[in-house]
Amino acid sequence: MTLTELLEIIEKTAVEAEREITDTQNLETLERIKNKYLSRQGAVAQLFQQLGVVPNEDRPAAGKNINELKLKLEDGWKKRKVELDSGGSSNIAGGRIQADYTLPGKDLPHGHEHVLTKTVNKMIDVFKYLGFNVADGPEIEDEYHNFEALNIPSTHPARDMQDTFYVHSFTEKDKCVDPLTRPAHLLRTHTSPVQIRVMKNSIPPLRVICPGRVYRHDEIDASHSTVFHQVEGLAVGEKITFAQLKGVLTAFIKTFFGDNTKARFRPSYFPFVEPGAEVDMTCPFCKGPGCNVCKYSGYVEILGAGMVHPNVFKAVGYDVKKYTGYAFGIGVERVAMLKYNINDMRLFYENDLRFINQF
Ligand code: PHE
Repeated sequence: MTLTELLEIIEKTAVEAEREITDTQNLETLERIKNKYLSRQGAVAQLFQQLGVVPNEDRPAAGKNINELKLKLEDGWKKRKVELDSGGSSNIAGGRIQADYTLPGKDLPHGHEHVLTKTVNKMIDVFKYLGFNVADGPEIEDEYHNFEALNIPSTHPARDMQDTFYVHSFTEKDKCVDPLTRPAHLLRTHTSPVQIRVMKNSIPPLRVICPGRVYRHDEIDASHSTVFHQVEGLAVGEKITFAQLKGVLTAFIKTFFGDNTKARFRPSYFPFVEPGAEVDMTCPFCKGPGCNVCKYSGYVEILGAGMVHPNVFKAVGYDVKKYTGYAFGIGVERVAMLKYNINDMRLFYENDLRFINQF
């Protein structure tokens, strides 16, 4: 056999083997291809045997060509094996799509609502069902809306109840106006200022809830955070009574925590309501007999409420002889912790997926 003839056979073998390798869709045929070309009796081995019939002087060139063919086929075979092993029929070879393009695409991980968002939305649903509208307001407030209009004058000791972050006012030159005098703006310490804004802009009867973020200059621990969320509610009309307040809050608690949950109203003090109350509900963990969460009382505190103080109505220009109203404030984190048995508030803000993905 002449060198030219041998080179022709090598070329033909290369083309055929490469086509078979790229065409194969499964490991079984890929194994057969290996036997056919690369085993001891395979096509490449037989080519090496042909070396004996090639003229002496052409043997080195012929050997080199067969060797190159062997390496090329081994290489192509290995690459195809990796592709098929990883389930990937997706390659484009020889201008043809080898993949099964009717297969569905790979699913990407889905995000979902944070447990706090879920809780707020559920609370909004319950109060909407009870006839409340949703109102929104600024997170940077002035002292008037956050305190004064809510019957908390600057000398009032209740300002200490809500440690406040003040925001300095700046001139155009980016200089603080006067850092030593108390600046006029602050991060709202509750969502009650939204209720002042709503009352100023509407005529009773009205029923609103104000969900949102609030800020307090608190030490962060398992039950305190500098930023947290509230849903506060307000109803004003000509014959609004404490009994209605009890009815609405009891309905909320039962809808949220189950029909067997009881609500208990205790007298309490907030400057913007009179009378004021703190509301407890049956401990969701022991359901009554007492455990270490409810300190063996069978009840846990859930919210603050009361009848709107006449001074608040005066601040917004409502006729105190004509109108009465009730207000309540609920901490969203607290509700979520009681509902989902979460024992540390910090978990809400750390964004640890092991926590977030449980809800
Ligand atoms: N604004 C109060 C707070 O943030 C909650 C509250 C609202 C209490 C309405 C009573 C009535 O602490």
